[in-house]
Amino acid sequence: MAVSRGEWSSKTGFILAAAGSAIGLGNIWRFPYVVGENGGGAFVLMYIVFVIAIGLPYMLAELALGRSVQSNPVGSIHAIRPGSAWKSAGYLGVLTGVGILSFYGVIAGWTVGYIYKMMIGEAGGFGEFISDPWLVSFLFALFLCITALIVHGGISNGIERWSKILMPVFFILLIGLIIYTITLDGAAKGLTFYLKPDFSKITGRTALAALGQAFFSLSLGMGLMITYGSYVSKKENLISSAVYIAFFDTLIAIMAGLIIFPALFAMGKSPAAGPTLVFVVFPELFASMPGGFVVGIFFFILLSVAALTSTISLLEVPVAFMVDQHKVNRKSIVWIVAFVTFIIGLPSALSQGASDLFSNFGWLPERLSSPDFLSHMSFIFGDFSLGFGALLLSIFIGWIWGADKAAAELTLGAEKFTLTKKAWMIMIRFLIPLIIFVILLNLFGIFG
Ligand code: TRP
Repeated sequence: MAVSRGEWSSKTGFILAAAGSAIGLGNIWRFPYVVGENGGGAFVLMYIVFVIAIGLPYMLAELALGRSVQSNPVGSIHAIRPGSAWKSAGYLGVLTGVGILSFYGVIAGWTVGYIYKMMIGEAGGFGEFISDPWLVSFLFALFLCITALIVHGGISNGIERWSKILMPVFFILLIGLIIYTITLDGAAKGLTFYLKPDFSKITGRTALAALGQAFFSLSLGMGLMITYGSYVSKKENLISSAVYIAFFDTLIAIMAGLIIFPALFAMGKSPAAGPTLVFVVFPELFASMPGGFVVGIFFFILLSVAALTSTISLLEVPVAFMVDQHKVNRKSIVWIVAFVTFIIGLPSALSQGASDLFSNFGWLPERLSSPDFLSHMSFIFGDFSLGFGALLLSIFIGWIWGADKAAAELTLGAEKFTLTKKAWMIMIRFLIPLIIFVILLNLFGIFG
């Protein structure tokens, strides 16, 4: 089975694909607005602590299970506890992949639309843009098609090769933008908001948001790392790989904030503008720079590419599940899953003003700043499902499969791990499920 499922060609290939999954709209679009909504510096600090203390050790657990059993989330659980109800944790992951893709693809479509807007030198008009029903639906469909085309061809060398060139270019572009924005008049206030922690702003809600963002950004909680881990060779060091992935993912997110907050304060805008933040502030920034629209074109092309390596991974989970478990043909199931995702995502695409019904979809408790369908999907799948999935998977890996077996898997290719093995086992069995559980309880208002 291992042979027919394939392996990453190298450790770099795996790190690139997994970092490509992790780095995406979550870093550039979601991270800054979640920071803005949750009060700035204290949230950033809490986020970093969650990445190191929970995200990273949890990522190791998913990778270990995937590499050990070499299957998708459902198949992996089935291999360890055949026929048990634990399989539902795997199904939840598959469902969450579709759920996230259904709204993530909409926003990825906007980034493609903005490449065109930059080309014609148009910085404003975000409101009209996202409320144009045909345009947003077309861009969403287009993005899903490109994603499906790549997943259709299996694990693509093209994407690995492209990422190797485009990711460094993206990185250099971000550094250039940081230098530009921190020298703007009024930038200092933005840096203070972003980097100086005000601990009075930490509440249960911000803790949930920080943990949710950490899981979302690292692509955790839905078995993606199980799936990608299943293609890793036994010789590779999973621990150093995970450290690289988490490091680069966090670095890119922090860098996005270093661009956006100085720019925001310099332009006198509110940091709590929510999901539209990046599409309004960045274009205005480009418009104000000499030669800015060329930078803008590059920026949105690279952001689209970053989003693409993430949508590929989101589609890969349900596809791997169907291929492994139901022995269906990869080439046709890719298009079926993409089509179903399109139907599920259509209300999200139309929820930014195109359809009044979905734009004011207020049937959930007023926990979100805006009641549109896309925000609800983002909350249900991007926050809650990932947290809940991570809770189930950490209990499954720590207790049912066994932390010792997971640790033994991690030691393959990483002999030095023996030193920290005990600490990791305690974390995955006790600390991680407990913290996730408390934060989930808080979500339902248990602590008032
Ligand atoms: N991590 C990606 C981002 O930050 C989004 C993503 C891709 C994801 N695959 C995932 C999130 C799997 C959770 C699980 O943009």
